[in-house]
Amino acid sequence: MPGKIYIFDTTLRDGEQAPRIHLNPKEKLQIAEQLARLKVDVIEAGFPISSEGDFQSVAEIARKVKGPVIAGLARAVEADIRRAWEAVQYAERPRIHTFIATSDIHLKHQLRKERGEVLEIARRAVSLARSFTEDVEFSAMDATRSDVDFLCQVFEAAIEGGATVINVPDTVGYAMPHEFAELIDQIRKRVRGIDKVILSVHCHNDLGLAVSNSLAAVQHGAQQVEVAVNGLGERAGNAALEELVMIIDTRGIYLDVQTNINISEIARTSHLVSLLTGYPVQPNKAVVGRNAFAHESGIHQDGVLKERTTYEIMDPQKLGFVKSEIVLGKHSGRHAFSERLIQLGYKLSEEELARAFSRFKSLADRKGEIKDEDLEAIVANEIKITTELFKLNYYQTLSGSMVKPTATVGLEINGRMVQKAAYGDGPVDASFRAVDEITGIRARLESYSIDAVTAGKDALGEVTVVVEVEDLTTMGRGVSTDIIEASILAYLNALNRAVEKKPELGKLSQQE
Ligand code: KIV
Ligand code: ZN
Repeated sequence: MPGKIYIFDTTLRDGEQAPRIHLNPKEKLQIAEQLARLKVDVIEAGFPISSEGDFQSVAEIARKVKGPVIAGLARAVEADIRRAWEAVQYAERPRIHTFIATSDIHLKHQLRKERGEVLEIARRAVSLARSFTEDVEFSAMDATRSDVDFLCQVFEAAIEGGATVINVPDTVGYAMPHEFAELIDQIRKRVRGIDKVILSVHCHNDLGLAVSNSLAAVQHGAQQVEVAVNGLGERAGNAALEELVMIIDTRGIYLDVQTNINISEIARTSHLVSLLTGYPVQPNKAVVGRNAFAHESGIHQDGVLKERTTYEIMDPQKLGFVKSEIVLGKHSGRHAFSERLIQLGYKLSEEELARAFSRFKSLADRKGEIKDEDLEAIVANEIKITTELFKLNYYQTLSGSMVKPTATVGLEINGRMVQKAAYGDGPVDASFRAVDEITGIRARLESYSIDAVTAGKDALGEVTVVVEVEDLTTMGRGVSTDIIEASILAYLNALNRAVEKKPELGKLSQQE
């Protein structure tokens, strides 16, 4: 019987630490529900002490998401551990994940503590966490740059304190596969009690080795692997969930291990995370990139047409890359629309469904045939905001080589219509300036990107913007067949998110 590898997903914690990802609680819940459908073993839902919003999200996920263990991160500090417990206590199977750094670099420059102190802090933190729950994970941050004797002592103290999972992070992505495998061997040989707990690894991708290092650890006896969807995470990210899972699925017999993952949910999970985080998946990304199963050269096309396995080692259909036979268009009713969304894995409230359906209808009027990618773009737009202070009512732009670009924008703000006109460097800039005039919010556009959701001249344009408003950075997305409209929607989405976080920003626009 192959050994089981536990998949610990940290998309909502380490993944969310990637620059400019700001998921709101609703989006986090959607992702957590999808991770449960994917059947990950553990969802690290967040870092509860880091903010009130993170705390509320972890608590909501703990209450609502059934199946996986729900973990909350905590430094090895009493207040963190108590807060993590307050958030995860509602879960069917709660876990507290506590950590402290063990490398001399971190001890000297960041913690400013001696090794003996760190050892005791680790032991005490774990036993405090154990007083709340039977499932406690301990991580030695920067393990791969730590003195191995000290690392083993700290792990032993954590096990004595009651840790049930011992995690070995390659925090800065420094290890090489053979070194990491050797470290796992040392830990398994030298740490008393290690055979009674789950041995876990957490690899970062700074040198592009996160998946290779995780795999080397699995081959040397690690039983849990910490991963993130699409490889999201701090800096260059974490080991990519889909890559590790598919290595095990494809080469499992050789490795003699298996996971519990429902691989038919991989495509949908990758897509949802990309949509909600605004992080596109690179086209040639292993497993989930749009070219991963595309065959360009004649020889390859010929081979695949004769027999798929000539050039495909994984079956894209098994991963959930399936095209629907149902074509949705302007004559489709609400029932067919909501059925397709359910098949795609989206659960919308009545109100969200009504809004998404009306957007679908107006898109179908313009575009004719609506593809799954279009539907997902519409849905992502509807589920990503809880309060929408600024709603686009209309816009009109004028541009060309002989005129000064001008835009007039009408917004609905709490049922009141406000309109303004502005000049700009182009129609998008003019529209954003008109929006600024109306909202009174001084936002700085940090980045702007546009992508086509599907192929063809009538494709939906998907605009992603990142704006800075005072000390907040927010991301916004907008989709439309008209790129100016998509741009305004993205900009408004980012401003609405800013107002959601800081309601006082919306005050100016509400003064008569
Ligand atoms: O990279 C790291 O060391 C971490 C720990 C908190 C596990 O993310
Ligand atoms: Zn990490």
